[in-house]
Amino acid sequence: MSLNQKITDWNGQVIWISGASTGIGLSLAEQLLQRGATVILTARQVDNLADLSARYPRAQAMNCDITDVKTLDATLQKILVQHQRLDLFIANAGVYHEMRAYEFDAEKARQMLDINVRGTIASVAAVIPQLLQQKHGGIAVVASVAGYGGLPNALIYGATKAALINFSETLYLDLSPHGINVTLINPGFVATRLTAQNKFAMPALLTSEHAAQKIIAGFARGDFEIHFPKRFTLWLKLLKLLPYRAYFYLVKRATR
Ligand SMILES: NC(=O)c1ccc[n+]([C@@H]2O[C@H](COP(=O)([O-])OP(=O)(O)OC[C@H]3O[C@@H](n4cnc5c(N)ncnc54)[C@H](OP(=O)(O)O)[C@@H]3O)[C@@H](O)[C@H]2O)c1
Repeated sequence: MSLNQKITDWNGQVIWISGASTGIGLSLAEQLLQRGATVILTARQVDNLADLSARYPRAQAMNCDITDVKTLDATLQKILVQHQRLDLFIANAGVYHEMRAYEFDAEKARQMLDINVRGTIASVAAVIPQLLQQKHGGIAVVASVAGYGGLPNALIYGATKAALINFSETLYLDLSPHGINVTLINPGFVATRLTAQNKFAMPALLTSEHAAQKIIAGFARGDFEIHFPKRFTLWLKLLKLLPYRAYFYLVKRATR
């Protein structure tokens, strides 16, 4: 039995995706629009979405910084005035700065914690009362396989995503008895603006279009955790089951 209600028919669904101006969020928005959904795409800067909005009348682009609680509330209100409900919120916005302990950058660390943790939690908190009132709908949180365990280059980023994994698990426990779907999305490496800074060869790298297909397939199965590509994520899950001595040895070997 699936942990969430399966979503196979996107036609007419009202979906808000944060961080939808580029990358995974933009590809997901486009594929959901193609399936008949109404999609509200938000980011701090959405000027580049004029072309998409022209191609899809059901696409609405809005500026919304997830670290600004007032703007989050105002965005939700605009959605409700126009559509009277929200079927799914996908908390996808996030930032990544490659970081090693011996090159610690306090400002970049603060930015990742502020956007990935505080901002994501604030955005989810903004929609929970509405979903509870509707007794219907879902929340999906985009974390990362970097949250499974410590990995080189991900000093603070990994910690922010580990926090989101734990947050999503607890959200599921709290909200699923109320008929609210909660989905955790853990992508492996996806070629986007975010990963373009990586100087190392990224294993099992996917395009953002392929990542969006995997996410939609996960919603169709009603998964709690949508993780991909399996040829990479299953290895990482297996590694985490090992004693630390073996975990550290294998991670060092694989990443040196
Ligand atoms: N690419 C990967 O390999 C990978 C792997 C695992 C997880 N992820 C996660 O997937 C999500 C999407 O990443 P991506 O790879 O698609 O990166 P991306 O192309 O850089 O997209 C990030 C999106 O987040 C938005 N954003 C950043 N800060 C924001 C803020 N404060 N408020 C609102 N929007 C904000 C960006 O737009 P603005 O800058 O205009 O606001 C952009 O739309 C992130 O949460 C990332 O951590 C990515």
